[in-house]
Amino acid sequence: MGLLIQGGRVITATDDDRADVYCEHETITRIEPRIDPASLPPGTEVIDATGKLVFPGFIDPHVHVHLPFMGTNAIDDWASISRASLAGGTTTLIEMICPGPDDEPLAAFETWAGLARAHAACDYTFHMSAVRFDELAQRQLREIVSRGVASFKVFLAYKGALDLPDEHLFGLLSLAKELGVIVTAHCENAELIDAMQKRLLAEGKTGPEWHEPSRPTCVEAEGVHHLATFAELTGAHIYTVHTSCAEAIDAAVAARRRGVNVWIEAVAPHLVLDKTDAERDGFEGAKYVMSPPLREKSNQRALWNALRAREISTIGTDHAPFGFATQKTMGRDAFTKIPNGIPSVQERVDLIHTLGVKTGRIDYHTLVDACSTQAARIFGLYPRKGTVRVGSDADLVVYDPDHERTLTVDASLSAVDYNAYEGWNVSGRADVVTVRGKVQARAGAFVGDQSRGVMLEREPTHF
Ligand code: URP
Ligand code: ZN
Ligand code: ZN
Repeated sequence: MGLLIQGGRVITATDDDRADVYCEHETITRIEPRIDPASLPPGTEVIDATGKLVFPGFIDPHVHVHLPFMGTNAIDDWASISRASLAGGTTTLIEMICPGPDDEPLAAFETWAGLARAHAACDYTFHMSAVRFDELAQRQLREIVSRGVASFKVFLAYKGALDLPDEHLFGLLSLAKELGVIVTAHCENAELIDAMQKRLLAEGKTGPEWHEPSRPTCVEAEGVHHLATFAELTGAHIYTVHTSCAEAIDAAVAARRRGVNVWIEAVAPHLVLDKTDAERDGFEGAKYVMSPPLREKSNQRALWNALRAREISTIGTDHAPFGFATQKTMGRDAFTKIPNGIPSVQERVDLIHTLGVKTGRIDYHTLVDACSTQAARIFGLYPRKGTVRVGSDADLVVYDPDHERTLTVDASLSAVDYNAYEGWNVSGRADVVTVRGKVQARAGAFVGDQSRGVMLEREPTHF
């Protein structure tokens, strides 16, 4: 059955046109100033987008669903995260596959892919994390790339858990260069964090407010420079995830000026929250513990400016949901045991719209570029995803920029028991969200087919 979206303002990373969009068999087949519904096959669904914006489906390039981490597991599953994503206008998720030191990469890939296959209501793909680089890992990583996962992930942080030691980093980046796959990276120096954590705990500094001082901005900037140096020598393409502060942006931009192929990701929490949130009384600050940590507020301006200058390419979430009552409390006696993560997958687009576009920090094109198009381009999904054009998947968001509401945990479709943005007033809401031509969400509610999602197999992006 066809779908006609009529009368909206179609906004992409580059264009802004009043147009009708017609979709057939999962694909956009016509974009014209006016399409007469009478000329379309009987049964075509017509959606009136008058006064609304029509965006390409948003892509979140950085989420965690299945995440065994810090002695527990993130609380969402693919059913809950995909409902939350769609309600917020996100139609494609890229999940980090994060095996532990004793896991084999291929088995991990199959576990993660199986969980998504069972319950994803939106489309998805993965970044494949490596915790070691030996003969077996190398063989299996090649196999995983041949199965359509065209990006790796490395952690320079989380000593003894997820971090990839330097002696393996060079080999992994060399393989990535050979295969033409980009390496996404969490850039914080694991050794420095470990030493700082020990020092602070020994001084009796145990609360969530000490999380940021245990990994200050210089630790992240060192991580970015460190990774960039390895990329400089191997030629690998790199992508710094959840870049949180001016110093880290500067390190990445300096590397880019030296010729390193580096892209920068920001995530919603760093753009709108700050370190005082992790200083809230009564252990409430634990809700705001993530890594890299929430920073001094002045860094928000650096992030928004870098977005406007297109130095930062993407905005993701790093959605990593841990229950406040059941999981964050594991760190009551020591901030080092608070599971790290702030969930935002449902709120991302409305937060960026409210605090980015409505305030004039960025324009609509930058919103679309950072929340959709660049992720598609960088990770080999473009133009199937990330834009509104004939031949692209019919992943569309009819967006009401004037809708006002208050964010609450009650309205959240994530399984987590708190909303980091509780009580915030936001402007804008995804009124209709389609995945390959099928309406999956309406007016902020999931209304679709729980098994709609497919894994997007990606080709290497560069040679
Ligand atoms: O705090 C965070 N970011 N938790 C999830 C794991 C990671 O580092 O991305
Ligand atoms: Zn990370
Ligand atoms: Zn993450």
